[in-house]
Amino acid sequence: MTVGAPGAASRPIVIAIDGPAGSGKSTLSRALAARLGIQRLDTGAMYRAVAWAVLQRQVDPTDADAVADVAQTLAIDVGDRVSADGTDITEAIRGVEVSATVSAVAANPAVRALMVERQRQWVASHGGGVVEGRDIGSVVLPDAVLKLYLDASPDVRAARRSEEGAEAVARRDRLDSTRAASPLEVPDGARLIDTGAHSVEEIVKMVVAWL
Ligand code: DC
Repeated sequence: MTVGAPGAASRPIVIAIDGPAGSGKSTLSRALAARLGIQRLDTGAMYRAVAWAVLQRQVDPTDADAVADVAQTLAIDVGDRVSADGTDITEAIRGVEVSATVSAVAANPAVRALMVERQRQWVASHGGGVVEGRDIGSVVLPDAVLKLYLDASPDVRAARRSEEGAEAVARRDRLDSTRAASPLEVPDGARLIDTGAHSVEEIVKMVVAWL
């Protein structure tokens, strides 16, 4: 699907969605992708896959070179299921161990450079899509047709991530927002959405009208 006035050169739909943990990015990106008939990429799952492999290979998450080496050599496939080097890790990457390790891995500039490159390739090869993460509108896809920044109150977000725990979620958000390399921030030109204040259907309608 493409956007553009009739007669004008149309361009593929690229929607960038950013926001902290539990802000509703996955729910909205799934609903939008289904509504628009386009693909969705969960970039957090890519960083989680690297964190999973770091744990699996017993690499020190603070050893920048060793972690970058893991990212470089890991084949990651993110779709309805997530796999790394052919192993299905869809459920494993949502566990507390991976959640507690992923922010350290995602703060590694070499890992980020590799992931950003793969994410841009994904968009090019899929002819656009809905891409969710922390640096999508700011770094990965600054020319996205539409940039959304989702948020909700800390209580609402913690309730959505109850298995991880409010303190762990707050710690991860702090690390993701204060790291030197591409911290979580509101991208220039992003539309802000409080996902605690609207239903998913209301937000989808709003977003489709912005396209
Ligand atoms: O969206 P998520 O909670 O599954 O993301 C897991 C972690 O990955 C998150 O704590 C920060 C990191 N991340 C990132 O740094 N950049 C992205 N584009 C996506 C996720």
